[in-house]
Amino acid sequence: MKHWQIDQLPWDEFDPARVDPQLVPAIKAAAVVERNSVDYAIYLNNVFHDDPDFKQAADHWAVEEIQHGDALGRWAMLADPEWDYQAAFQRYRDFYHIPLEVDQSVRGSRTGELIARCMVETGTSSFYSALADATEEPVLKALCKQIAADEFRHFKLFYDHMHRYLKRERISTLQRARIALGRVTESEDDELASAYYTTNEPPSLPYDHNRCIAAYMSRAMKNYQPRHLRRVTSMVFKTIGLTPHSKVQDLAFFVTEKLFFSRQRKFARIAGVS
Ligand SMILES: [Fe+2]
Ligand SMILES: [Fe+2]
Repeated sequence: MKHWQIDQLPWDEFDPARVDPQLVPAIKAAAVVERNSVDYAIYLNNVFHDDPDFKQAADHWAVEEIQHGDALGRWAMLADPEWDYQAAFQRYRDFYHIPLEVDQSVRGSRTGELIARCMVETGTSSFYSALADATEEPVLKALCKQIAADEFRHFKLFYDHMHRYLKRERISTLQRARIALGRVTESEDDELASAYYTTNEPPSLPYDHNRCIAAYMSRAMKNYQPRHLRRVTSMVFKTIGLTPHSKVQDLAFFVTEKLFFSRQRKFARIAGVS
């Protein structure tokens, strides 16, 4: 059972005057990445081929992620009636591929895979929480609140399974930290940049990673407030196995906040986004 239905959202209250046009391109890109989770479910089913409980959970997770994509896509088509979500998704699928035919995780272990999934859910939960707080458009606000609640649940799902595997695989805190931070920095790889490209730029314009990642990130990061980053650092700490709400976490938060906002300003300069 899904926790909510797309039709339950207050679509009649959509208010074009309250749409921030700078945000629309990022929502379009997020919509196709969310919908593409169907591929990640195939990948996860291959990695966890002999774990029926997790496979069932991964299939259910994908259904929820696809719903995120479809709801965001519907909102983006209200904000930009010229835009076609299904066509954009097809273009993204044709352009960007993840390796699916695997029999083990690209993270080297199942625990590592689940740590990486926790980092993705940390990123999405903070992104939609920040967006829900920042936007004044009522439908997007309601939608982002629903999605953020799902993403926090997804974090818990992968976190619980990670602990199950950690008992068997016994990965050190240092290795866990390396995998977690590695996945965080991957957010600047091709997945989101390609999504921005295929949902916002004409095919006649050649793909340029640096241009597209700056265009996406400058918009996605601009809604964050320090309190969202504080929650991010505590989720990262929890995943790695360090004590949250400690002096070390205060220091990590201080560094993260400085790095995050200077990176956002750099991307904004490149993309010409205020
Ligand atoms: Fe999602
Ligand atoms: Fe999620």
